[in-house]
Amino acid sequence: MDYLVKPVESIEGEIRVPGDKSITHRAIMLASIADGQSKLTGVLEGEDCLATKEVFEHMGINFIKEGNDLIVKGVGINGLNEPMKALDFGNSGTGIRLCSGILIAQNFSTKLIGDSSLSQRPMSRIVEPLSLMGANISSNNGMLPLNIKPTQSLNGITFPLRVASAQVKSALLLAGLYADGYTEIKEDKITRNHTETIFKEFGIPIEVNKTKNLRSIRVCKAEKIDSSDINIPGDFSSASFFILAALIAPKSHLLIKDVGINETRIGFLHAIRHMGAKIDLLNIQTGTEPTADLLIKASKLKGITLNTKLVANMIDEMPAFFIAASLAEGTTIVKGAEELRSKESDRLQAMANALEALGVKHELNQDGMIIHGLGDDGEFMASEINSLGDHRIAMASSIASLRANGEARVLDCDNVGTSFPNFVDICRDIGIKIQEQ
Ligand code: S3P
Repeated sequence: MDYLVKPVESIEGEIRVPGDKSITHRAIMLASIADGQSKLTGVLEGEDCLATKEVFEHMGINFIKEGNDLIVKGVGINGLNEPMKALDFGNSGTGIRLCSGILIAQNFSTKLIGDSSLSQRPMSRIVEPLSLMGANISSNNGMLPLNIKPTQSLNGITFPLRVASAQVKSALLLAGLYADGYTEIKEDKITRNHTETIFKEFGIPIEVNKTKNLRSIRVCKAEKIDSSDINIPGDFSSASFFILAALIAPKSHLLIKDVGINETRIGFLHAIRHMGAKIDLLNIQTGTEPTADLLIKASKLKGITLNTKLVANMIDEMPAFFIAASLAEGTTIVKGAEELRSKESDRLQAMANALEALGVKHELNQDGMIIHGLGDDGEFMASEINSLGDHRIAMASSIASLRANGEARVLDCDNVGTSFPNFVDICRDIGIKIQEQ
């Protein structure tokens, strides 16, 4: 399915984006292995999270939908049942990597599979450290399928993250709940901390220590996990596409309600404010996962050299950031973003292709890109952009088309449903002319 998008003069309105994908995955997993019933409010019903839910259904978990809530009947930390078939995680790196941390500790074997994109993504980053903990886990030359067999015992390890990855950190923290002694993860680039925050919600002791350049996170074996009621905020990553839309469609004015503003997720907000974006945070609610309403006005942007420290905290927003940079005055330089090559597509290459199609001068490097912005009066060339089946490339390219000199076509957009099932409906609500074909 393709999207056809027409340029618009302005977008306007008040919207809500669906629940946070990272938090939904974690909430489903922990509620499943908690003792008793948990209530999850605002879960994302995107295909990625539904795949995680289905995986736990295959292991005996009962989920009941009640209005906006998902009731999860937890079976306790050792209560999962052996699934009758391979566990299919679809497109989801978060689902498969985090779940591996739980599955290595079960007294039954599992085979973990995914779609063609997930089957090409690197798994050694979890297989190696989980093996160090004593897991019996093997991959197919670092790729899927993963085969997990029961092990005699798991031991805690101290592990400095080699790649800035919250998925790796979280897989190890989950495994640490089943391992003897302490499991300690050290990170020199701070990655999203939703596992740390949600552990607290489920009554799991977790210690976080920060020095100037290092953060260490420590858990120990858990006897039990308390059930919990979790409120899942709007996903900042989904909101970023509409932040971009309101910034680049002239005369726009948009309010996005109840968006998660966890500091480890909002590098994009800092970066585009530095470029001149007019965004106000209203109605800030503090808490383990803080939220705010975001008020965005169309803005003149200027190019920047992106602070490499922000990259890990805006890794999913980089496609949207590249589009913003393409309409800024002057040059934007991005370095230290090689991880983008290991996402649902090679996002550096995919965005370089998109910028080529849109008529933006750029230089692609192994770990980033230099983008020569078209400036505030600039217009993209209307063209055909291949999303390569990657939801975030599809959405960033569609929003870019608001500033094209005619109708643009974005190819292969079915995957938007993995993270943002009502993307097209929200687009239409605020005046974006988008058609599915
Ligand atoms: C996620 C971590 C990030 C991010 C992904 C969600 C998570 O991946 O890109 O969309 O929920 O832990 P990496 O850990 O590979 O950086």
